[in-house]
Amino acid sequence: MSTQFAEETIEKSVNFAPVCRSEELEPGWGEALLLDGAQVALFRTEANSFYAASHHCPTTGAKVMARGILGGTMVDGRPVETVACPLHKEVYRLDNGTCLNADSPALPIHELVEADGQLWLQQTR
Ligand code: FES
Repeated sequence: MSTQFAEETIEKSVNFAPVCRSEELEPGWGEALLLDGAQVALFRTEANSFYAASHHCPTTGAKVMARGILGGTMVDGRPVETVACPLHKEVYRLDNGTCLNADSPALPIHELVEADGQLWLQQTR
């Protein structure tokens, strides 16, 4: 599939917006993004997986999640990639947002797709 075809297909079929090239994200780190008024945290793990989540900590609403600490753990015998809030260290799954170490609301996760080195974020509005 050509890059142009992939981009046109993703953009038209499911309302995704191009956000950045995947190589622009540093492995093991996050970056904050403002898209249509929504603050989003983008993450690239050390294993080169890409995730998007709300930049707001679900526990306090603090806009800090892009500065969270990436890591991983085992859940039901399977490896799960995680982000810990940098303030009080509550740990959230990056695949579904579930909080693993407290009775806290889930971290909202956004659909993020990589195609030919381009990251596409599902628009929230
Ligand atoms: S501010 Fe995020 S866990 Fe407290």
